[in-house]
Amino acid sequence: MNNEILVAPSLLSADFSNVRDAVRLVEECGADWLHCDIMDGVFVNNISFGPKMVADVHRISKLTLDAHLMIVNPLKYAEKFVKSGAAFVTVHLETLSDPLSELKAIKSMGTKVGLALKPNTEVEAVMPFLDYLDLLLIMTVEPGFSGQKLIPSCLPKIEVTKGMIDNCGKEIILQVDGGITEENVYAVTEKGANCIVSGNSIFRSINPMQTVKIFKKKANTN
Ligand code: DX5
Ligand code: ZN
Repeated sequence: MNNEILVAPSLLSADFSNVRDAVRLVEECGADWLHCDIMDGVFVNNISFGPKMVADVHRISKLTLDAHLMIVNPLKYAEKFVKSGAAFVTVHLETLSDPLSELKAIKSMGTKVGLALKPNTEVEAVMPFLDYLDLLLIMTVEPGFSGQKLIPSCLPKIEVTKGMIDNCGKEIILQVDGGITEENVYAVTEKGANCIVSGNSIFRSINPMQTVKIFKKKANTN
C-alpha cells in the first residue's frame, strides 16, 4: 500500500441547503473521499440522511463515497447504499448479530466493506473478521454528532489496530473518525491511521484547502 493519507470530509458538517457547493469545495481542496454519515435515530441519537443523498452526490462528483452506517440492522439497507454509489460500506460491529455472515453478505453486494468500532469496543473484537475487511474505522468520539472533542483514550486503539493489520498482511485501510483537528491530526496519523474523516475542521475552516493539506501531511515530515 502506498503511504498516502486519504482525507474524507464528512458531509454531515456541510450546509444541506447547498450540498453541491460543499462537494465542489472539498473537491477543490484536494479531498480524496466524501464520508457519508448515515444515522437512524436508533443506534445513535440523531437522524441524518439516506441513500438518495448518496446517489445525488454520486451523480455530481467523482470522489470516492464511503457510507458509515450508524444504523441497526445494516444488512437491510446496505445494498441501497451500494446501488447509490458508495464504494465502501462500513457497519458497526455493535450492530451485528452474526458478524461473519453479515460482512460476507455485504461483500457479496459488490462493495468494499468496513467495520467500525465505538470508543468503548475493544479492538481485539475485530480479529476474527480481518480476512473479510477492506477498512477498519476507529471512532474517536461517541457516534451521533459532528463537532465533538476527540477522546484521547481512544488513541492507543489506533496503534493496536495498525499492528493487527500489519500482522495479518492484508491491505486494510485504517480510518479514524471524530474530533480530528489540525492540532491533533499528527497524533492520529503517527499511530498508523491512513484515512482521516473530518467534519467541522474542514467545513468550518477559514482555509479548508490548508486544513486538507495539513491532514495529508505525514507526522514525520512535519
Ligand atoms: C460522528 C460521525 C463523524 C463526524 C465527524 O458520528 O461519524 O463522521 O460527523 O465530524 P467531526 O470531524 O466534526 O467530529
Ligand atoms: Zn463517520
